[in-house]
Amino acid sequence: MAQDFPLIKFEHVSKIYQTGEIAVRALDDVSFTIHRGEFVAIIGQSGSGKTTLLDILGCLNRPTEGEYQLNGQSIQTLSDHALTTIRNQQIGFIFQTFQLLPRKTALENVQLPLLYAGLSRVDQRERALELLTRVGLDNRTHHYTNQLSGGQQQRVAIARALANKPDIVLADEPTGNLDSQSGQDILTMFHQLHAQGQTIIMITHDQDIASQAQRRISVADGKIVSDDQVMTSHPLMV
Ligand SMILES: Nc1ncnc2c1ncn2[C@@H]1O[C@H](COP(=O)(O)OP(=O)(O)OP(=O)(O)O)[C@@H](O)[C@H]1O
Ligand SMILES: [Mg+2]
Repeated sequence: MAQDFPLIKFEHVSKIYQTGEIAVRALDDVSFTIHRGEFVAIIGQSGSGKTTLLDILGCLNRPTEGEYQLNGQSIQTLSDHALTTIRNQQIGFIFQTFQLLPRKTALENVQLPLLYAGLSRVDQRERALELLTRVGLDNRTHHYTNQLSGGQQQRVAIARALANKPDIVLADEPTGNLDSQSGQDILTMFHQLHAQGQTIIMITHDQDIASQAQRRISVADGKIVSDDQVMTSHPLMV
C-alpha cells in the first residue's frame, strides 16, 4: 500500500528530565524521518540520549517539546491507553537484558503479546510456535527462559517482538550481553528481517555492528551530529 508520509517523523523533539533542581535536556531539538523498510543504527556515547530517543520512538515515553508522528499520526494527543495499544500492535521492543518472564517457558513468553492482542489460545500457540521456529528455537519451546543461553534468550525476545507483526522493531543494545558469535547471529537475523521489508532501529556501542546497518545516526549531548546513509548495500547474510 503506497503511503506518502514517512513511518516516523520527529520535528524539533526535546526531552527534559527534571530531577529536583537539575534539568537534563536528554534530547535537544531533534528532527529526522525514517521510512518503511530502513535499517538504522543509533550510535553515541553513554548518556548521549540514545535510550531516551528509542523510548520515545517506542511510545514508552513522550517528548517534552516538539512533535512525533508515527504512521502519520501525532502521538502527543493520544491517551496512555491508546499508546499501549500502539505499542502492542505496531512496535516490537528488544532489550539489552532480554527482559523475558523467568517463570514462563519460551512459548509462553512469545504468546503473551498475542494474548494481549486478543488472539484465541489456539491461534496464540500456532503463531508462537511459528515464530520460535523462525528464530531456530523450535526445540526449546518448553524450556523456561532461565534454562536458555543468552543468545537463545535474545532469540526468544526477537520472536516476542515480532509476534504482532510490528511496523517497527526497536532494539536497545541487542547484542550488548552476548558473545561476538551470538551477537553476529542476532545481526544475521536482523539482516533477514530487513530483507523481508521490516523496519529496524537499533542502538549499539559497537562500530562493527553499526557498520552493518544501512543508515547510521550519531547522537551526542542529545543532538544528532551525523546521519549517514550507506548506499552500498550491506552483505546480505541470508
Ligand atoms: N528517568 C530519567 N530521569 C532523569 N534523567 C534521566 C532519566 N533517564 C535518562 N536521564 C538522563 O538523560 C541523559 C540521557 O540518558 P540515556 O539513557 O538516553 O542515555 P544513553 O545514550 O542511552 O546512555 P547508555 O549508552 O549509557 O545507555 C543522561 O544524562 C541521563 O542521566
Ligand atoms: Mg541507553
